[in-house]
Amino acid sequence: MQWTGLNELREKYLSFFESKGHLRLGSFPLVPKDDNSLLLINSGMAPMKKWFLGQEEPPRHRVTTCQKCIRTPDIERVGITARHGTYFEMLGNFSFQDYFKREATAWAWEFLTKVLEIPADLLYISVYEEDDEAWDIWVNEVGIDPSHMVRFGKEDNFWEHGSGPCGPCSEIYFDRGPEHGCGKPDCKVGCDCDRYMEVWNLVFSQFDSDGKGNYTRLEKPNIDTGMGLERLACVMQGVGNLFEVDTVQAILHHVERISGKTYGQDEKTDISIRVITDHIRSTTFMVSDGILPSNEGRGYVLRRLLRRAARHGRMLGINRPFLTELVDTVIHENKAGYPELEEHADYIKKVISTEEERFYKTIDQGMAILSGLIDSIEKAALEGKKKILSGLDAFKLNDTFGFPLDLTKEIAAEAGVLVDEENFRIEMKKQKEKARKDRLSRDISGWAADIFGELDAAPTTFTGYDTLTEEATVLALSDEEGLKDAVSTDDGAKEGILVVLDHTPFYAEMGGQVADQGTLTSGDTSLKVLDVKKTPKGYFVHTCVLESGMIQVGQTVTAAVNKGRRRAIARNHTSAHLLQQALRDVLGNHVHQAGSYEDDERVRFDFTHFSAMTPEEIALVEHIVNQKIFAAMDVTVRNLPLAEAKKMGAMALFGEKYGEIVRVVDIEGYSTEFCGGTHVKNTAQLGCFKILSESSVAAGVRRIEGTTGMGVLRLLDERTEMLHQVADALKVNSVHDLPLRAVTIAGELKSTQRELEAAKAALAANKIDGLFENAQDVEGIKIMAAYFSGTGSDTLRSMCDKIRDKAPNTVAALVGASDGKITLAVSCGKNAQERGLKAGALVKAIAAVAGGNGGGKPDFAMAGIKDATKVDEALAAVAGIVRSALNG
Ligand code: ALA
Repeated sequence: MQWTGLNELREKYLSFFESKGHLRLGSFPLVPKDDNSLLLINSGMAPMKKWFLGQEEPPRHRVTTCQKCIRTPDIERVGITARHGTYFEMLGNFSFQDYFKREATAWAWEFLTKVLEIPADLLYISVYEEDDEAWDIWVNEVGIDPSHMVRFGKEDNFWEHGSGPCGPCSEIYFDRGPEHGCGKPDCKVGCDCDRYMEVWNLVFSQFDSDGKGNYTRLEKPNIDTGMGLERLACVMQGVGNLFEVDTVQAILHHVERISGKTYGQDEKTDISIRVITDHIRSTTFMVSDGILPSNEGRGYVLRRLLRRAARHGRMLGINRPFLTELVDTVIHENKAGYPELEEHADYIKKVISTEEERFYKTIDQGMAILSGLIDSIEKAALEGKKKILSGLDAFKLNDTFGFPLDLTKEIAAEAGVLVDEENFRIEMKKQKEKARKDRLSRDISGWAADIFGELDAAPTTFTGYDTLTEEATVLALSDEEGLKDAVSTDDGAKEGILVVLDHTPFYAEMGGQVADQGTLTSGDTSLKVLDVKKTPKGYFVHTCVLESGMIQVGQTVTAAVNKGRRRAIARNHTSAHLLQQALRDVLGNHVHQAGSYEDDERVRFDFTHFSAMTPEEIALVEHIVNQKIFAAMDVTVRNLPLAEAKKMGAMALFGEKYGEIVRVVDIEGYSTEFCGGTHVKNTAQLGCFKILSESSVAAGVRRIEGTTGMGVLRLLDERTEMLHQVADALKVNSVHDLPLRAVTIAGELKSTQRELEAAKAALAANKIDGLFENAQDVEGIKIMAAYFSGTGSDTLRSMCDKIRDKAPNTVAALVGASDGKITLAVSCGKNAQERGLKAGALVKAIAAVAGGNGGGKPDFAMAGIKDATKVDEALAAVAGIVRSALNG
């Protein structure tokens, strides 16, 4: 056997099984489709469950793939040992009701011993203890020496993963040699040590498990095999673990270069290097498949991996964002098998760097808080308290500083502190429930899927691309309680009736486009269609109001889509396609659709981009879309083989897996997209396009809302109406006079303000005259003390200035209140100052009476007063304070 690189091994495997009549398929995306039992694809067979169960026809009954997989049962163990990893590739050959044990075992043996030339005496085989058939085939047909065969129980040799296809299995082990063993006398295949490495699992998949311990035997059995590509590479490269495999080594070395640390010197450093090496592999692939960091589901797994990698970077002494640099190496090592990585390179790096930067921002704060908490827990422990971090604290760290629970746990564990996870979850649940309530909307699709699940009829044919009205037959009916044969109106309309038709022109809500509305009629019977959804089995469920007559299964009805509404929806949907391309023209090719919604009033388009668009960019995008509309470009729809569509450069949705034949919507080559929606025939039908808003939805995702056709006219009407309202309010006859009127009013306002100020000053002068009249004489100094409501500090100051300038032998102490603030202003005239009075000192003494404080110069000073109830007292104290100052 010869040293073989990982990429070369993948190719050898796939072409070997091609030579055995298998169809080679690309890896499915990491995000499972129509399968809620899985967060992320974790084995080669996971995306093919329907083919195994005979629920869908596979493209061929023999298939081979190399599947990207992520397994995250215990992320915190990854890195600690070299055995664990989160990302790996699984080679597999699959038979869907085609060949079985005999071929699977023979080919596995041929591949390992003939193609890879692994010596037969280094290989061992295990079979399920009750599977005599497999034992016989291995021994008598393949020719394995029984001394190389073992039988294991259900725990080891029965493969199942959640619900779905499963069965007994047979595993192939590679003997790495006694020097890798534990040395115990009973060390043999199955031992926990590093000697016998399990490389290939052949599953004789013959049951369907409901995940609750119930197994249904499948009519015809399948074959599901899985061989970890990295494991096989370990064998072929003579290395002990994943981190020594060629492609992974390249990443590991890059981590060494960035950190300036060398692998294999000390355990702590090695752990961090392994964590980063592993996590950057998985996260690069996850982002490439359209997953974005978030606090839920797979987005959370991604966030946790990225943050864990970033934290270990810090532990290695890397004090800057560095993960994106590694992405280049991951891509370089993997692009042979996954060319899409290179296509998405800029995008992947953007997502990862944004998350890393966010993490850096919060980590310091969060770490400081967590260390503080741990310190006090440790102190309390000296007094005999348990070392536990409360669930609420852990939740707050999560909520405010983005510290995932596992990160908190990991850091706490380093100090021997446990986290109260139960209460953490309670807090988390409270928050989630609140969020769920906020967005709770009645979703009939799951429910309808259940009641119509057992229907014995072909799925509904959708005819609405070509026609909007047609005769159809009622296949099934229900009202709220379940299936019904017939429903009639007793008195008044009957709501919530679900009708399944054999074919329908009604578009069911899909790919962001809302469902059609319209009517079902037949003689006296009339139903209003409010909503349409498609069940996973392909039945179109029309949610209706029965307005008159009766409806029953088997009845023929005229199904008619509301044409005007459908056309408006089509306009907005086509505008989404133009918009996407215009955004790419203006902002760059990192723009990808991240979600969309089209109804009859507007289009909402979410896309990946990392900063707010400038007004100029928005205007330019809008202008480009309008140019395409005025150029009256044809919109053509074609059903094409996937490969051909890809060659045309058709834009696919991120992470979406498409069938063999795809529907491609093309606008004269300007925009080419995979799309199942309904569109106009020519862009001119859009009339016009207008962007209504541009905003942020999540980190790295922006949203544009826009409208077309009548929507633009409606917008114009609204704006015009608004102008008329303004004109009315400003009393001009024509909106054209508004600008002039606005300028005039602004001018008038300014001069009015000036007059008002002058009036206020005059008023203050009057008040000053009054003050002089009421002044109190203290040893030749005139004391003026008074309170003015509604007077702020500026006016008080100017009053004081005037008094001081008018008479040299004065002390003014004026209190005013404005905006909830009480101010005391004190001035001393020239003579008063010469006699030793200082405004700064006086203001302090007077303010102190009412709990205030302040200061200033000898001629003028100010203070804030705290206690409004003591203002009178303070004013009454002025004379006494001045007297003692004169005599002090
Ligand atoms: N599905 C089997 C596994 O993952 C082959 O091991």
